[in-house]
Amino acid sequence: MSVDLDKCFEVVMELVRNGGKIINERIFSKKTVNTKSDRIDLVTETDQEVEKMLISSLQAQFPGHKFIGEESTAEGLPCELTDAPTWIIDPVDGTMNFVHGFPHVCTSIALTVNKITEIGIIYNPVLEQLFTARRGQGAKLNGQPIHVSEEKDLKNALLALECGTTHEPEKMKNNFVNQQTFIPIVHGTRSLGSAALDMAMVAMGGADAYFEFGIHAWDYAAGDLLVREAGGVCLDPAGAPLDLLARRMLCAATMELAQEIIPKISQIYPPRD
Ligand code: IPD
Repeated sequence: MSVDLDKCFEVVMELVRNGGKIINERIFSKKTVNTKSDRIDLVTETDQEVEKMLISSLQAQFPGHKFIGEESTAEGLPCELTDAPTWIIDPVDGTMNFVHGFPHVCTSIALTVNKITEIGIIYNPVLEQLFTARRGQGAKLNGQPIHVSEEKDLKNALLALECGTTHEPEKMKNNFVNQQTFIPIVHGTRSLGSAALDMAMVAMGGADAYFEFGIHAWDYAAGDLLVREAGGVCLDPAGAPLDLLARRMLCAATMELAQEIIPKISQIYPPRD
């Protein structure tokens, strides 16, 4: 199937902005909150509504394209990455932030064709940060080119780490082990509460590296392209090539920094999507 990537980019940008208006109108209002896999794995009517709007509008424009969506998967649809053009969608990344009115929330969307990511968009409508990447064309924030920090030395790095959305004992213990390892070494650690925005920070040079286990393709597919187009590296946290369905992500400003981080990470291997 031939894919008009310029048209895809134009269409999805308008839809993402429309979804952003919905997020913006509601972030500081009371929400109906439900839980998914854990009492801290949250979903609101806005997550579901924005995802439905994005998928139905993209489907109407691009019949034959496939979808992997966070909320559709939670509702039981399969999470399958094939060679077909596939939109990978997190309508509200940072749902916990959205629920609390902490303004680091975004829509994260990637388009893969033949399993290669061609488009990545991360849009925080509250802070008006629109991160975009097209394969081979660089990464941008609000239309201006961005670049990773080029930090090579872990002791000077600002490292983004997340606690995730589960109290599952193995994952919690592993988070604590990694915090114990890295906090004494690095300049500092940060958690934005959104995997996609953590990666956007690495892409724009605000943070130097980020890793997390247990996230999903919708959390990191767009960020992967954004970081690589900004000059950084994305790998499996054990050093292998990144796998969008393995639920494991490491990104860093430089390969040298990634190589210093990898042997220090306490690894876990969540079940694949
Ligand atoms: C979550 C956020 C969070 C990360 C979790 C994700 P959601 O996504 O990205 O930062 O730690 O692992 O599940 O649930 O807000 O879309």
